[in-house]
Amino acid sequence: MDHFQYLDGVLHAEGVALPEIALAVGTPFYVYSTATLERHFRLFDDALAGSEHLVCYAVKANSNQAVLKILANLGAGMDVVSGGEYARARAVGVPGERIVFSGVGKTRAEMSQVLAGGIRQINLESEPEMELLNRVASDMGVTVPVSVRVNPDVDAKTHEKISTGKAENKFGIPIGRASEVYAKAAALPGLQVVGIDVHIGSQLTDLAPFGEAFEMVAGLTGQLRAEGHDIRRLDLGGGLGIPYQRSNEVPPLPVEFCELIKRKVGHLGCEIVIEPGRLIAGNAGLMISRVTNLKSGEDRSFLILDSAMNDLVRPSMYSSFHEIVPVVEPVPGVEPEPFDVVGPVCESGDTFAKERLMPPVEQGDLVAFRSAGAYGAVMSSEYNTRPLIPEVLVHEDQFAVIRARPTFDEIINRDIIPAWL
Ligand code: LLP
Repeated sequence: MDHFQYLDGVLHAEGVALPEIALAVGTPFYVYSTATLERHFRLFDDALAGSEHLVCYAVKANSNQAVLKILANLGAGMDVVSGGEYARARAVGVPGERIVFSGVGKTRAEMSQVLAGGIRQINLESEPEMELLNRVASDMGVTVPVSVRVNPDVDAKTHEKISTGKAENKFGIPIGRASEVYAKAAALPGLQVVGIDVHIGSQLTDLAPFGEAFEMVAGLTGQLRAEGHDIRRLDLGGGLGIPYQRSNEVPPLPVEFCELIKRKVGHLGCEIVIEPGRLIAGNAGLMISRVTNLKSGEDRSFLILDSAMNDLVRPSMYSSFHEIVPVVEPVPGVEPEPFDVVGPVCESGDTFAKERLMPPVEQGDLVAFRSAGAYGAVMSSEYNTRPLIPEVLVHEDQFAVIRARPTFDEIINRDIIPAWL
């Protein structure tokens, strides 16, 4: 459920009509609903109430500081994958002990940064990384809590670009080698082993692969404890999928995901950490765009928008589906027509949807891309020197720009022409 509904024939974000925001900030723009973000966080947090747990929002999904602040105010922890994300989380007041640091190639500089600023745990991805972290921690005279990310070699049955738990993926250490790797970690004075970490992929729409992975983690917990390790925290990652196509997709609910966790690992007495990103932010955001032109091609009609692949890259990058709806509610009974929905960027890959059946729209109309709150703004670029589009946050009947559109001068003045030119 989200808070984007038609009221009096016009799509609203909570209590704000979207044309009102378009008038104030121009198009295209992203708009997020505070109530939806809060609701989605609470779905996980409430479902795990009663077990010791921390819901660490995966900052990569949407890292705007206003979004982070909403979640931090509800007691969320943060899962970060770079020094930059760590800095964002700290900037909104999240203490280091509520931040976990994941990611496959942490640099020495990032390690020093989070050790100096405080960190709940670092999820280690390889032995060389473990040795590097030990050196950095020892040089700084500290001991850092760590988990090792294990790769359970399960098929997450999701898009190949966002599947992470197969042996062929670059993530984690093979679960069969865990015993050896944990023994090594325990012998390093700068590290303190506290748990196990697993994350098998993103946009999972079936609980079975999670169940398989969590069961393996449960087995490994017993084994590592028997080998003398104090395993007291399980970080089970993120990855729960959302309905992008609401008419025919019904992914499992957060409560079902959390029940599965309790069933598979609840008896171990470990603190549970989860790292949901998409489920919290995805359906809490829209991208609003204006129709620049309608163009009839040889055998199809093109709907040309003022947003493009640089603003929302998911369709080009993963062939992903986003619902595209007119901001003015179509009159009932109107026949939908097929359109190729495209942006103005100079490549054919700049296509949001092919032969999409849509109610007819006209030049100047506003359309909304649903499910754009996660991996939308964060993956945008200035390709074609198109300014990053603004982000707007709605709270009940108020809205605020939470990232402004840069001017052309701001963009081009970042370039530096060397003195010899
Ligand atoms: N934890 C780790 C270690 C991750 O790598 C990820 C996502 C998450 C948590 C959060 O997963 P979520 O709950 O959001 O599924 N750009 C892609 C998605 C990449 C996901 C990468 N890792 C997309 O637009 O679909």
